[in-house]
Formats: sequence, C-alpha cells, structure tokens
Amino acid sequence: VASVTVRVPATSANLGSGFDSFGLALGVHNTVSAELSVSDEWHVQVLGEGENDEAVRRDNRVVEAMVRLFAEAGRPEQAAHVWCRNDVPIGRGLGSSSAAIVGGLVAANELIGRPFGRADLFRMAATLEGHPDNVAAALAGGFTMCWGNGEPEFAHIDPAAGLAAVCMVSAGPLSTKKARELLPAVVPHDDAAFNVGRAGLLTAGIALGRRDLIGPGMRDRLHEPYRLEAVPDLDAVCEVLIVAGADGAALSGSGPTVIGLVCGDDDADALSRAVRVAERSAELLGGTGHERRPLVVAVDRVGATVTL
Ligand code: HSE
Repeated sequence: VASVTVRVPATSANLGSGFDSFGLALGVHNTVSAELSVSDEWHVQVLGEGENDEAVRRDNRVVEAMVRLFAEAGRPEQAAHVWCRNDVPIGRGLGSSSAAIVGGLVAANELIGRPFGRADLFRMAATLEGHPDNVAAALAGGFTMCWGNGEPEFAHIDPAAGLAAVCMVSAGPLSTKKARELLPAVVPHDDAAFNVGRAGLLTAGIALGRRDLIGPGMRDRLHEPYRLEAVPDLDAVCEVLIVAGADGAALSGSGPTVIGLVCGDDDADALSRAVRVAERSAELLGGTGHERRPLVVAVDRVGATVTL
C-alpha cells in the first residue's frame, strides 16, 4: 500500500503480581503514519510527547523497528517517511517504547504487503524491546500473559466488561534498565509462592470481572519491594488509590507511574467510577508533595489497528 496509519495503545505491564508476564492495554494511543520513500532518505516528524526531545527524533524507536522489519524482509535499503503522533507519556512505565516499536513494525509490514504474521511481529517486537509483556498487550489489546521457553509466546484474554484504570503518572521518568538493576538475582521461595497465588487471582478477577479478586491479585513481592528505592512514594500512592475507591493498585511496568484498576457494571460505569477515584486521589495527595497527575483511561480491547 502507498501509505498507512497505525494506532497503538499504551500498556501497563506486571500489574503487581504478573512480573514480566502480564500486560493490559489502555485507552491512550500513539499513531504512526508512514509511506515508503522513493529515495534512501528517512524523514521523521514527531508531534506530542517527545516532540521537543532531540533524542526521540534521533534515536526514534518507530524508525528502528521499521528498519528491522525491512531488513528481515530482505529490503535493507528501504526508507520511509514517518509521522508520529504521541499521546503515551514517555519513560513513565506506560509502554511508550513498546507502542513505538509495535507501531513501526506494523506500519512497515503493511507498507510492503504484509510478509509477516502477528506471531512474527510479536517476536520481533519482544527482541527489540527486550521484554515481551508490554508489546503483547500493545499488539493484541486487552489483557495478555507472556511466557516462553526460549521463544516468547503470549495468550490473550478480553477482560470482562466493566474495567477502567487510573494512572498516577509521575512527573519524571525512570528507565526500565535502572529499575531492573534494583532487582535481586534470587528471591525467597515464600515470595515466589506468594506471587503464584496472587497472579492466579488477578487473572481470574480480570477474566471473570470478579472485583473482589483484583485487589489481592495485584499484590507483589517479586519486584515492587526492591523498586521502592527508586519510587519511594509507591506504597503511599497505592494506598491513596485504594482509599479513593480503586479495586487494586500496583506499580505500572517498572514505574514510576502507579496504576489503579477500577471495576464497574460495564465499561462506561467503570470509567465514570475511575473519574471519581482520580478526583479523590488528587485531593488526598494534594499538599503532600506528590508530583503526580491522574490519567483516567478505558481498557483498550483491540490493540494495534491499521487504517490504510
Ligand atoms: N516487566 C518489566 C519490568 C517492564 O518490570 O522490568 C516492562 O517490560
């Protein structure tokens, strides 16, 4: 095709107990529009998040992904013109790099006649990203669980109707690399067993719409305790979200954003409850020196979508 537009959701990985496995797609999006270049010149324009950041233009992850896909397809010389409209906050634990990578891969794949299927795109994205959890949710939407024995795989669940989220977006970024350096090489057996139970609860809670399982299901002992050093207000912000009415709360990805999940009778009811949770959380945090802004989001149930 001559040109393509791809819309990719933000994502929240881990959700507490599902460390390096779970992902949830959220209703805030990046859009990549692209067309093949007739020369070997790349042209990139970034609007929205990162538009004033020279590094975002220079080391653009959309372009990196497109270059990789063209090379894998045997067209290493291929260039493109790319327009990025970014609404996903960068470096906050909301899957901005996965959104960029998935957007680039899907756009490039469409432009050259779709030589790769979704499983190929997922594996390429996971390799480029380094972790599969955000890219699975960005590609497929809804709730995803990654596993793998060498090659990463994922399973997708459409969450039961009635789920929304409040993201308490941090003022500053935290790199995943730095957040991973805080993790120990081994964890106590007790803690691993704790997370097994909680991850089961959360999956059931999301699949069945059992709000009573979401709170306990989002508790974690594998990564959050170690990341407190980089996100010292994590426990306080989780507590505020719960007091404000969220059904569960956890660090979003490797942070520093904190996500609260909010259930309702249907998605519209969950979203209006989430608005109230956000307002109440902002009031509770006001004046205590927390530099976070609430972002209320629906669950994205479709993942990356293509418009030709
Ligand atoms: N699961 C990763 C981590 C972040 O917690 O370090 C997202 O890939």
